[in-house]
Amino acid sequence: MDFKLTEEHEMIRQAARDFANNELKPGVIERDEKQEFPKEQIKKLGELGFMGMMASPEYGGGGMDTVSYVLAMEELSKIDASASVVVSVNNSLVCWGLDTYGTEEQKKKYLTQLTTGEKIGAFCLSEPEAGSDATSQKTTAIDKGDHYVINGTKNWITNGGSADIYLVIAHTDKEKKHRGINAFILEKGMEGFEIGPKEQKMGIRGSDTHSLTFNDVKVPKENRIGEDGFGFKFAMKTLAGGRIGIAAQALGIAAGAYEMAKAYSKIRKAFGTEIMNHQAIAFKLADMHTSIEAARHMVMKAAWDKDNGENYDLSGAMAKLYASQVAMDVTVEAVQVHGGNGYVKEYHVERLMRDAKITQIYEGTSEIQKIVISRSILAD
Ligand code: CAA
Ligand code: FAD
Repeated sequence: MDFKLTEEHEMIRQAARDFANNELKPGVIERDEKQEFPKEQIKKLGELGFMGMMASPEYGGGGMDTVSYVLAMEELSKIDASASVVVSVNNSLVCWGLDTYGTEEQKKKYLTQLTTGEKIGAFCLSEPEAGSDATSQKTTAIDKGDHYVINGTKNWITNGGSADIYLVIAHTDKEKKHRGINAFILEKGMEGFEIGPKEQKMGIRGSDTHSLTFNDVKVPKENRIGEDGFGFKFAMKTLAGGRIGIAAQALGIAAGAYEMAKAYSKIRKAFGTEIMNHQAIAFKLADMHTSIEAARHMVMKAAWDKDNGENYDLSGAMAKLYASQVAMDVTVEAVQVHGGNGYVKEYHVERLMRDAKITQIYEGTSEIQKIVISRSILAD
């Protein structure tokens, strides 16, 4: 067993850390306040190779492993979870899904633009009446020979307004239940494809979340991903990897808040001494550090499983469940360590606390992770 990162991993981590500090930190409070998408920053992340890290080099990807990806996700999320969710969706849901299951033509046409950040992707599974219960899709795709006609509504779509390429899950045959679901590649601007208003959110406010409506959208047959009926498995397999990315995001949010709380405890004085010298504060930091380290091990193990051909459904779900709870606990305590300053925007921790909550909701709520975990451990 080797817990040491390779030189390449260290370099990737440092590059992500530098980017987060130099490019994301300066405008992060303002973007959160204005709900402003980090457009320029995402463009630069694309140029640096962070938008298609694990995708095949022949389609412009970095050909990197999942460990590299989670290291980058942790560092970016320490500073700006709104930017990191854009990175996460593009990398682990859209690029990975297309790279793994797309046809040669689909990869040439779409993946090459997504890996460079030239275009942004979105993953569209959730619906107003089908969130956790993802097989209850109402969106339909009717087979018309050389094309499908799509009708329905998706909601909560990350990158909903900023994306150009959308992977949309829809029913082609309701009788067949989840085996009658397919995944399609849609492009912004297709006739009948409408983007709803931006959601006003508590956290990750820089990322744009929209509902999407499809009114008789004609999608060429060659835009279906995989064999007929593969769509639900496509979504589940893709999400299994995506959850590792969100676990890394949660880890980064927690680690970012902890680092700020630790630094603050060394400079803030109360009762004639730095607050770190009060055991109540030192113990909070000890608990934070311990739980973050445990979460990091779980995230790394899930990434290692994926990189080494092991099943990562269970380790990814456990990592997300645990790391997202750590993100909540640690950010609440980081605000406490900052006292009144923790409650105002300029100290960053209140934003991280608001951002932490979403990691327990998207890509499968904590309750859904427990379903995945319990089914897995009870299966043998
Ligand atoms: N890999 C491959 N196949 C899988 C699978 C996996 N990890 N998990 C399930 N399946 C297959 C099953 O084998 C089954 O197929 P067969 O019958 O052919 O064997 C089929 O999928 C249905 O499985 P279940 O019977 O387990 O389905 P279920 O209705 O009980 O639901 C669930 C399972 C895990 C709860 C699933 O519905 C789920 O994951 N729900 C949460 C949805 C979710 O995570 N949404 C996230 C949206 S994207 C997002 O949120 C992005 C973002 O924020 C940034
Ligand atoms: P519901 O499914 O209605 O759940 C409500 C509550 O009931 C939850 O606590 C849930 O855990 C619980 N619950 C439900 N079923 C069970 C059960 N069987 N056992 C125990 N408890 C249960 N979706 C996408 O497809 N693409 C995206 O890009 C995307 N981005 C998102 C971004 C944001 C900011 C948000 C808020 C959501 C996003 N989502 C996205 C949707 C997200 O994945 C769903 O919100 C999530 O899966 C939960 O679905 P729901 O909101 O319908 O809640």
